[in-house]
Amino acid sequence: MLLLIKVRLCYDCYCIPKQTTDSFLPPKLSPTLPVHRNNNRSMIVPLFFLVVLATISYNAMASAPPPEKCKSTEHCDVDINLSSVPETTLWTLQNRALVASDSSKDWFQDDKAVEIHSSIKYDYEASFGKPDDSHGIRSWLFDQHILDFWRDNPDGTVVNFAEGLETQRFRLEESRPLGTLWISVDLPSAMKAREHFILPNAENLHVAASVLDTDEWMHLVPRDKPVFFTAQGLFMYLNEKDLRGLFQKISNEFPSSTILFDSLSKWLSDKTTSPEGWKLTDTYTTPPMPFGVNKDKAQGVFQSWVSNAKVEEVPWPLEKDNSFFMRNVAPLLIRLPMIQNLVPAMVMKVKFPPSTKYG
Ligand SMILES: C[S@@+](CC[C@H](N)C(=O)[O-])C[C@H]1O[C@@H](n2cnc3c(N)ncnc32)[C@H](O)[C@@H]1O
Repeated sequence: MLLLIKVRLCYDCYCIPKQTTDSFLPPKLSPTLPVHRNNNRSMIVPLFFLVVLATISYNAMASAPPPEKCKSTEHCDVDINLSSVPETTLWTLQNRALVASDSSKDWFQDDKAVEIHSSIKYDYEASFGKPDDSHGIRSWLFDQHILDFWRDNPDGTVVNFAEGLETQRFRLEESRPLGTLWISVDLPSAMKAREHFILPNAENLHVAASVLDTDEWMHLVPRDKPVFFTAQGLFMYLNEKDLRGLFQKISNEFPSSTILFDSLSKWLSDKTTSPEGWKLTDTYTTPPMPFGVNKDKAQGVFQSWVSNAKVEEVPWPLEKDNSFFMRNVAPLLIRLPMIQNLVPAMVMKVKFPPSTKYG
């Protein structure tokens, strides 16, 4: 049954076609009932509709126009040679480029993503299969939260963990307050790939290091200004102990800061760490994603890491999806307690308290 859902629910985690994922539940609607084995029979009817309708929606999406081919005469066929987790930045790039190339989705404009996507020598579909909307929607959602942060904090710093080939700062540049700092932290191979296309400067710093090597990047973040941390498609690749340590360190060092991130459901995380792994295509299996938490436990888990932190789930913008299923059926289905933990991922926001000290 889970396999069927996986086949057509969307993401690296999000929509409902193809790969699988995200957060569809407004926090106030989040039920707290755990999923029990004896719920299986009562799940058959909603799951049947979910699979049928998601399949229809997937097929409709699969017919979206593909991103354009490289138009540049100088930068086509760039070989960026990524593997393991850094390679997954090509998966999210492919999906964002699809949305940005689709003129019916004018809410997501990203010429830079389309240009970078088309410049790289890589068979995206052979690895990741047909592109979908998931990461375009996720990026749009993260964009809105950064814009809100700047509206309230016009001198605020954005620290973007695991930015990979994200072109978010270009999408937001017209609304970005003058003189604000943007710090991008990613592993050395991913940062090298980024710098084929995007160079750092005085207001846009690049740190080629793991986010867990906090000595490499924390000293660059101003202490006298508000800070907004974002992590799209990162935390699932870390282990729980490291992630908890990172949260506590950020809370110690940057009181009152906020972090926005996405997180996988437990079943999908377990799938990626199983012997067969999560195969997206015949030739590509995702790297293991060891950290996952179910929707009905997520708030409690993140809360337990940093006491007095304000933890909320950010509703997934289902209205951005063109499909009948995602607009009309998913909002109803995800209210069912037996469905909520099957949703492959969620977006969470944690506001750290004004002061905490962890060992
Ligand atoms: C799925 S991609 C997401 C890229 C980008 N955030 C996006 O949404 O397009 C995962 C990214 O996590 C980065 N990454 C993995 N482990 C990391 C770590 N420990 N520290 C920093 N970045 C890491 C990879 O290099 C890669 O760029």
